[in-house]
Amino acid sequence: MFEEIKNIFIQNDSQRYKRGQFPVIIAVTNQKGGCGKTTTALNLSAALARQEFKVLLIDLDAQAHASLGIGIGVDNISCSTYDVIVKNIELEYVIVPTYLENLDIAPATSALNGAQLEIADLLGREGILRTALYKMVNNSKKNYDYIILDCSPSLNLISINGLVAANSVLVPIQAHYFSLEGMKDLFATLRVIKDRLNLDLQILGILPTLFDNRGKVTQDILSQIRDYFQDKVFKTVIRLDASLSEAVAFKRSIFDYAPDSDGATDYFSLALEVVLLTASEKKVKRNGAREKICQSQ
Ligand SMILES: Nc1ncnc2c1ncn2[C@@H]1O[C@H](COP(=O)(O)OP(=O)(O)OP(=O)(O)O)[C@@H](O)[C@H]1O
Ligand SMILES: [Mg+2]
Repeated sequence: MFEEIKNIFIQNDSQRYKRGQFPVIIAVTNQKGGCGKTTTALNLSAALARQEFKVLLIDLDAQAHASLGIGIGVDNISCSTYDVIVKNIELEYVIVPTYLENLDIAPATSALNGAQLEIADLLGREGILRTALYKMVNNSKKNYDYIILDCSPSLNLISINGLVAANSVLVPIQAHYFSLEGMKDLFATLRVIKDRLNLDLQILGILPTLFDNRGKVTQDILSQIRDYFQDKVFKTVIRLDASLSEAVAFKRSIFDYAPDSDGATDYFSLALEVVLLTASEKKVKRNGAREKICQSQ
């Protein structure tokens, strides 16, 4: 069954990224905890912002690690992603700037813990964030190139909202045997979402993280991941690097905290790959596709 699930995403590569009318929306997801989702969402966002793309990071995790890691004091904010999902507040009102010029964030707070129950009985509950994003892109002056969603370590209704809103998925995976096991559940969920809720959803890439190149087992698992997922695995591998954890504590991206570190090198290389993979979409967007989407509605 796993083979069949995988093929859904590996076929039809020529159909990838043809839509061209929208920002690239990437959900960083894996229900496995601690595999580097937030570190990736934060530093990929920062790397793209440093390349002068306009980037919005959306925190979809009640732990609020992405918000805290980029210096947002979540105790002092009046609106968060909870308000967008539960109270129908426009995304635009929730967005705040970060210390990086081209990076904004829609922060989360612990209130998001309760959101899942509050929307459980609503009609269209899986598409609340998607609608909020469409409204923002079509109506607001905020013209983002990339929107990065940091999902929680659970395939709950809030993560599903992220996957329905996204046009692509980036899956960080720790080079560890049990990580591969967990991928079955993730891919099964992605398949259902693609079949029923978001036909456009694509796998942008699988990203090996927390990679310790001194261990033979991790080397073997990395080879297995590459054999299995082939060109869906990013060429970039994120190495184990303590400065990535330290940067979060200092509320800075790795590029500001330790620009010469392995972490900075690896996340810069990831950003380049992401830009290359999504280049056709950006090109069309720069040619005025945003106006076209407005006219067609
Ligand atoms: N490449 C790395 N090298 C060293 N430490 C890392 C690396 N990537 C992430 N970490 C650290 O590992 C821990 C987990 O990372 P992170 O918070 O990004 O994972 P996560 O998948 O978002 O976790 P959760 O599932 O709880 O949301 C953090 O302390 C982070 O600083
Ligand atoms: Mg996280």
